[in-house]
Amino acid sequence: MLKIENIDTFYGHVHAIKSINVEVESGEFVTLIGANGAGKSTLLKSIIGLQPVSRGSIEFFGDRIEAEKPDAIIRRGISIVPEGRRVFPEFTVAENLAIGARARRSTSQEMKEDIDKILLQFPRLKERWKQKAGTMSGGEQQMVAIGRALMGRPKLLLLDEPSLGLAPLVVAELMERLQEIHAAGTTILLVEQNVTLALKIAQRGYLMESGEIIATDTTKALLESDTVRKAYLGIED
Ligand SMILES: Nc1ncnc2c1ncn2[C@@H]1O[C@H](COP(=O)(O)OP(=O)(O)O)[C@@H](O)[C@H]1O
Ligand SMILES: [Mg+2]
Repeated sequence: MLKIENIDTFYGHVHAIKSINVEVESGEFVTLIGANGAGKSTLLKSIIGLQPVSRGSIEFFGDRIEAEKPDAIIRRGISIVPEGRRVFPEFTVAENLAIGARARRSTSQEMKEDIDKILLQFPRLKERWKQKAGTMSGGEQQMVAIGRALMGRPKLLLLDEPSLGLAPLVVAELMERLQEIHAAGTTILLVEQNVTLALKIAQRGYLMESGEIIATDTTKALLESDTVRKAYLGIED
């Protein structure tokens, strides 16, 4: 589905992504883990067309997309839940979801179907339908952000640290929702700093450090690997 080959991304002189290869197959739940500053957000931004790549290719279902604009990439079926949630605080839940539909250019009939489906998945949003997103809790805002991304009917959903700043119970609920979304047929690429959590929920993972992929394997193998255990789980041997 997604094939990233030897891409490099720079911010001026900062070499944020160094010749990275990442692949995601249809139906997979893949996680990208690594410390703060590793380049995880930059990689997602490069996929969605928000950060230009200076070398290499990104293919989505065999088509090169690395030079396309974000709206074209969204219409191909990739949606992103950005870091820090970024709902439109002055807009209601309903309006936030409508923005997601506009990005895809959904018809009103499609929009209605998508909203019905999303409200079944996130009943809390139904209760808060007319509430301004900015007045909701962090967990609820994250659900709005995910709902908005789902309005694009993504084949591939990118999430940038959705658990950040949320209470453990809220995180647990969020992860259940992500598993449901995956089970319903959406392929997921989840970026997380919460390594234990990500490795428990995903099937396969990539470990990123200083702009490079330093390990990739099934999440089960990564959880047992020395690199991950020493660096991220604080286990010495
Ligand atoms: N807008 C920017 N301008 C300059 N450097 C940036 C910018 N955004 C990120 N960086 C740098 O790129 C590297 C990777 O950052 P980022 O992708 O945000 O990492 P992560 O998401 O893994 O924490 C870091 O060294 C960071 O300081
Ligand atoms: Mg980040």
